[in-house]
Amino acid sequence: MTFEYAERVKRLPPYLFAEIEKTIKEKKAQGVDLISLSIGDPDLPPPRFILEALKQEAADPKNHNYSFSQGEPDFREAVADWYKKRFNVDLAQDQVVALLGSKEGIANIGRAFINTSDRVLVPNPAYPVYANGSTILCDGTVVPMPLLEEDGFRPDLEALDARRVKMMFLNYPNNPTAATVDTKFLKQAVGFAKDNSIILCYDNAYSEITYDGYCAPSILEVDGAMDVAVEFHSLSKTFNMTGDRIGFAVGNKQLVGGLAKVKSQIDSGPPVYTQKVAVKALAAYKGKEPPEFLRKNNLILQERRDLLVEILRKIGFKCDKPKATFYVWVNCKGDSMKFAKRLLDVGVAVTPGIGFGECGEGYARVTFTQPKERIIEACNRISRAF
Ligand SMILES: Cc1ncc(COP(=O)(O)O)c(C=O)c1O
Repeated sequence: MTFEYAERVKRLPPYLFAEIEKTIKEKKAQGVDLISLSIGDPDLPPPRFILEALKQEAADPKNHNYSFSQGEPDFREAVADWYKKRFNVDLAQDQVVALLGSKEGIANIGRAFINTSDRVLVPNPAYPVYANGSTILCDGTVVPMPLLEEDGFRPDLEALDARRVKMMFLNYPNNPTAATVDTKFLKQAVGFAKDNSIILCYDNAYSEITYDGYCAPSILEVDGAMDVAVEFHSLSKTFNMTGDRIGFAVGNKQLVGGLAKVKSQIDSGPPVYTQKVAVKALAAYKGKEPPEFLRKNNLILQERRDLLVEILRKIGFKCDKPKATFYVWVNCKGDSMKFAKRLLDVGVAVTPGIGFGECGEGYARVTFTQPKERIIEACNRISRAF
């Protein structure tokens, strides 16, 4: 027997990575030593104090009941304290909702605010959840905002058609381009959202993975942002906790409340023990500056970044040295799918830019979530392929 998918599921775009993933599986099954520079999942471990806290909190029987669906009060307080220390932003408890990782919140915000055919401005290229999870699966209409190299991979806000737009997504430090912004751009974005009564969803997942002294802002630092914006964040990248699924959304009370209302009908929040670990993790910040663990973590990543960019440039590829994230957005001079397949043949997996949207064509995303020796070996193989 077969069952028909819902129309909204049928509208999801074809999964472009399917063929590549199949080849990766085949190669692995053949015993090929494949080096993956394709996933956005840190290879470095969470800091020891978090592993200890996890053991302790998970062992406490009191921490195994249902959580408050909006998140434990001490978790929300810890998030508010962190925003004050890190961004000098004031948040009340009802301006914070706990998430099962920021991906879940990004997907569910559409469920709270998007009606059939509402238009949603989505960066292109982008993390696919804005278009798929939050727009198409909520019966909305995706309006792509091209992120072009000549504009620093920022949308040209003046060129956008804002008619009937209900929501827009922005993400800096950006996946996949690794572009960053300053508060001047964020002010323009808030102004645009306010002028056009648009909900501004700001994905700040990578704000703590930064290099060369760059300090990523929060959209909520901008005057008036609290009228229109909700910011998504998580402990995934900051504390190397991608699998623990703990994040949060903060900002405008009605937007956070709408998300919480939807979530209360879908999940019952992250496990209490995970939230308690997150409280300890966020408390590691004593001020705006990153805690020692994170400084060391980012120095390791920075060294890898320098190595990867230097070798890629030597081979002849054009790429910027990113100030944040663990991605290098490489100009692959043509068909990104062919480029990725050619690299797979020499045992290196990268992500073709087209998988992040049409404007990602001509680029590939190369991650530095591998130890230095593996990056060097991968680059040797890439060099041989070209
Ligand atoms: C831009 C961006 N936002 C959000 C996420 C989701 O992260 P998590 O759900 O682990 O918080 C990712 C994960 O790769 C990402 O790249």
